[in-house]
Amino acid sequence: MKSKLKISDVQKDGGVVSDVVEAQLEQGGETQDVVVKRTRKNVEAPHFSYADTALRKAAARTHLLDRTILDRLQNHPTVLVPRLHSAHSRGLQTVMTDFNSQGFRLMQDMLVTNQLPPKTAVNAARTLAALQLALRDKSIMAKVKPIENSVTQIRERLAEAHILLYGHLEVYRELEAKLLSEKGLLYTDGHPKNMAVNDKGDVMVFDFGRVITGSEQYVPANFLAHIGLACIGGVMPYDVAQNFITDFYVTFNGIIPIEEKWFVRFFAAELVHRGLAMRWVDPRLFKSARESSAKLAVYSVFLDVFDRDYTTLNQLLGSLKNNSK
Ligand SMILES: Nc1ncnc2c1ncn2[C@@H]1O[C@H](COP(=O)(O)OP(=O)(O)O)[C@@H](O)[C@H]1O
Ligand SMILES: [Mg+2]
Repeated sequence: MKSKLKISDVQKDGGVVSDVVEAQLEQGGETQDVVVKRTRKNVEAPHFSYADTALRKAAARTHLLDRTILDRLQNHPTVLVPRLHSAHSRGLQTVMTDFNSQGFRLMQDMLVTNQLPPKTAVNAARTLAALQLALRDKSIMAKVKPIENSVTQIRERLAEAHILLYGHLEVYRELEAKLLSEKGLLYTDGHPKNMAVNDKGDVMVFDFGRVITGSEQYVPANFLAHIGLACIGGVMPYDVAQNFITDFYVTFNGIIPIEEKWFVRFFAAELVHRGLAMRWVDPRLFKSARESSAKLAVYSVFLDVFDRDYTTLNQLLGSLKNNSK
């Protein structure tokens, strides 16, 4: 069937290495809203540091991995992803259905206004756990290979924890070794800017280019630290965050058992990664907390975990409560 793509210059927010613009796809007399994702070959952005060399160089090839995984997940029964329009996707251009036209909104936009529907926590846990099961499944992911080196990406994600643990490098090394201890594919981009949610709390996930190999134990903390940050920043009241984190944890744990101690440690590491320098952190997250007090709060949770040896979800929630007032 003949189809025609009309690309606008209206750009979507939320991308780091790609440009995503709105477009319309005309097909068999019908028009639908799509987006065109394009990745520049050598990404250069003012917020990139010397530590981002790997990402900058790999960006173009991560685009192709992103599309391959998106393609493999098209008819997955549990993992909801944007529809891929293969006929118009080529090179570093991917055309997908615009989730905004299907009643979904970027999860980040709902999070910063504390509007996430109650089912979001359970559905996000189901989605991310099912995604991990799909990534494990060789019949779905045959020949899918990560672009980025796991050690490089993991060291980037644990960079702040590394610095804060200079006095206890053995603890840092254990953390890094745990993350590298499994060899299956790992989704490390479970971020509210890579997920969309509708009024019912159904969750859609996208942006798979940075998949590496590593331990699935990282997944719950990778996502929930964003909820922690929203709580510390004051956009999500503590009791809402507590319920969200608990619902997510229990659901994920029912599908892929969580090792509690590692969840707590990865959460603290992820929290300082996002919040210590507030690098790339959405300014809308600060409603009641000043940025400087949020930075201190993030560090304080980290100290509870690593200096006071917090190892349980309850201890972690207690620390979050004390630091989010
Ligand atoms: N299918 C889609 N429909 C609507 N918006 C989208 C879609 N895919 C991506 N976007 C928007 O574009 C942003 C960047 O896309 P993403 O795939 O995450 O690229 P990047 O690799 O740059 O992070 C997302 O945060 C989202 O706001
Ligand atoms: Mg993204």
